[in-house]
Amino acid sequence: MKIVGFAGSNSKKSINKQFVKYTLEQLKDHEIHLLDLNDFEIPMFGVDREEEKGYPNKVKEFIEIIQSADGLVVSLAEHNGAYTAVFKNLMDWCSRYELKFFNKIPMLLLSTSPGGYGGGNSMELGLSRLPKFDANIVANFSLPKFNDNFNNENGIKDDELRANYEAKLQEFKKELI
Ligand SMILES: Cc1cc2nc3c(=O)[nH]c(=O)nc-3n(C[C@H](O)[C@H](O)[C@H](O)COP(=O)(O)O)c2cc1C
Repeated sequence: MKIVGFAGSNSKKSINKQFVKYTLEQLKDHEIHLLDLNDFEIPMFGVDREEEKGYPNKVKEFIEIIQSADGLVVSLAEHNGAYTAVFKNLMDWCSRYELKFFNKIPMLLLSTSPGGYGGGNSMELGLSRLPKFDANIVANFSLPKFNDNFNNENGIKDDELRANYEAKLQEFKKELI
């Protein structure tokens, strides 16, 4: 099975990317691929740009990679109570090229932030909006206070949070069989 993961962030030090990377490492029985949205730099979506110049190749490339996956791990960063502009822009482009581009591929939806809600607003938005693109969110988990609760070697430090996360990971793994 091929699992593709990415963070909804273009930060070089993205904590969401670190969280996706850690999660993909827990799925090493499978073929894992970690994407970086910096490799999919595309212009700001606009209907005029779309009409005049069509779809950037990077949009098609991104959709092809997504649709080649058997499972998706996505972790949403939060800016001002919503997912980031870079993620929204990508979603806007992809949805215009092919509305249902997530193809019902099982998705583990994550979010994290340094705050106590762990990117929960972004998560709520993702849970309500991404299914419009046929995202099949089979499990979701938000990790609060990333800097206190996570390190790259041992993952989630807090026992209760770790148990919760592992249960969600199991739910996702079941969908991959
Ligand atoms: C413009 C901006 C707005 C932010 N707004 C929020 C917010 O609404 N909620 C939150 O939990 N964190 C917020 N943060 C902090 C981010 O969660 C933090 O920068 C985090 O590292 C972003 O995830 P990333 O490292 O994966 O990009 C904001 C950060 C920036 C730069």
